[in-house]
Amino acid sequence: MMAYLVFLGPPGAGKGTYAKRIQEITGIPHISTGDIFREIVKKENDELGKKIKEIMERGELVPDELVNEVVKRRLSEKDCEKGFILDGYPRTVAQAQFLEDFLDSQEKKITAAILFEVPEEVVVQRLTSRRICPKCGRIYNLLSLPPKEDELCDDCKVKLIQRDDDKEETVRHRYKVYLEKTEPVIEYYENKGLLKRVDGTIGIDNVVSKVLEIIRWSGK
Ligand code: AP5
Ligand code: MG
Repeated sequence: MMAYLVFLGPPGAGKGTYAKRIQEITGIPHISTGDIFREIVKKENDELGKKIKEIMERGELVPDELVNEVVKRRLSEKDCEKGFILDGYPRTVAQAQFLEDFLDSQEKKITAAILFEVPEEVVVQRLTSRRICPKCGRIYNLLSLPPKEDELCDDCKVKLIQRDDDKEETVRHRYKVYLEKTEPVIEYYENKGLLKRVDGTIGIDNVVSKVLEIIRWSGK
């Protein structure tokens, strides 16, 4: 299956959860810029690592030039030849334009931009109860998707952690940044006829089925 996908939506819309599932089912690689930056912060204790950490903890956006460079490198890897799921990128119109120019140069085109719609109060509830495995990145939720054993990853058996940017105040700020900087990206894809809207408040399995349907319809 060939698909070049963009997953759009506010923080906590479920982008990472759905992308991981779609990757398991279809083999299309899941690329999360948030995950890439969290890895950089964990490994690089230099100026750049510290700068990124500070930006993320405040819930602001990493500068476009840096994000674009990181994405360009990742998309140039071999596993992206047959497709990708971009989760959390593009987040500004400048990033969307950069992505389009980059794909043009490779004679590729976005297949669909899927927007997961979730209201602010659902976002706040989901993110304050989210937990992740620090080892494998699996995403849990204490309310809707709890681990089998008390706050331990089902697979790795290590203690789950909370993301530094998942405090209520930071979540609300991230949502505001989303409205301001990322909502224009919705219109960008709508104008190109690529936007597909999916209700992100229905259960995870239902959302995943809808996404698979979209991939089948829009892919060749
Ligand atoms: P990033 O990591 O991308 O965070 P985000 O966009 O804010 O999104 P989240 O990861 O918080 O939510 P999600 O939609 O993946 O939801 P999840 O599946 O976990 O970015 C972090 C930071 O990095 C940014 O703030 C910025 O600083 C920087 N950054 C990253 N990309 C950048 C870019 N392009 N430009 C500039 N800066 C960038 O699900 C959430 C919870 O809900 C889970 O607990 C899950 O179990 C639960 N859940 C999911 N779906 C459902 C459902 N359907 N029903 C019930 N519960 C559900
Ligand atoms: Mg995510």
